[in-house]
Amino acid sequence: MAILEAKGVEKVYQNQVERVYALKKVDFKIETGDFLMINGPSGSGKTTLLNLLSGIDQPTTGEIYLDRQPLSRLSDSERTVMRRDKVGLIFQSFELIPVLTAGENVEYPLLLQKIGRHERRKRVKEVLTQVGLEEQMNRLPSQLSGGQKQRVAIARALVTRPKLILADEPTGNLDSENGMRIIRLLLDLNRKYQVAVVIVTHDLTLNQFARRVYLLKDGVFADQGGVENVEDRLA
Ligand SMILES: Nc1ncnc2c1ncn2[C@@H]1O[C@H](COP(=O)(O)OP(=O)(O)OP(=O)(O)O)[C@@H](O)[C@H]1O
Ligand SMILES: [Mg+2]
Repeated sequence: MAILEAKGVEKVYQNQVERVYALKKVDFKIETGDFLMINGPSGSGKTTLLNLLSGIDQPTTGEIYLDRQPLSRLSDSERTVMRRDKVGLIFQSFELIPVLTAGENVEYPLLLQKIGRHERRKRVKEVLTQVGLEEQMNRLPSQLSGGQKQRVAIARALVTRPKLILADEPTGNLDSENGMRIIRLLLDLNRKYQVAVVIVTHDLTLNQFARRVYLLKDGVFADQGGVENVEDRLA
């Protein structure tokens, strides 16, 4: 079953001097339990696509269906709630709240979901441990390295136990050991709970873990490939 579907999606950015066709007629489907990579050069439309898929931004034409609900027909607040409850978003620029500690940043989505204090504490500790940051829990983002901030952003995306994870360069600031830890964690969630994962990345070595690989070029998907047995490669 498709957890997310994009049909004929286009995005045009218009300012005073020019029109940028960031995405051109993209059709895209994410099934429950998928594990996909999207590659593509800088400026090819990867972040634009993730912003549309998550309902943060709206397409100029076309429709996005999240769990079969057309996002354009929802109000802003309905869209926000859908995203909050179903999608774990890992931003390229982290988007941490500077005045909150690492632990509080991770806890924040659970507060919005009105999850009780005891359960919040438990889940925050669990995900921070999974990304290897339990000891940095009380630090502010300004007291963390780039890679640590990235891992806090990942923990925050996982803490709500979403059905779909959209990750923009999630290993971009990590050394290979921590990068592998994150990939293993995402693969593990994918296998155990059928969480669908979409990873946007320049790092072609990550493609070996994907069930399907897409290449975005100038706002269109240029190619499609992939491997089936990622388990063998992790052994
Ligand atoms: N708000 C905006 N206004 C105008 N143009 C924009 C805006 N946001 C993005 N663009 C343009 O849209 C195109 C796609 O940008 P996008 O950020 O999606 O690329 P990307 O593939 O994520 O690149 P990178 O790998 O560098 O992160 C680029 O040409 C960019 O300059
Ligand atoms: Mg980008």
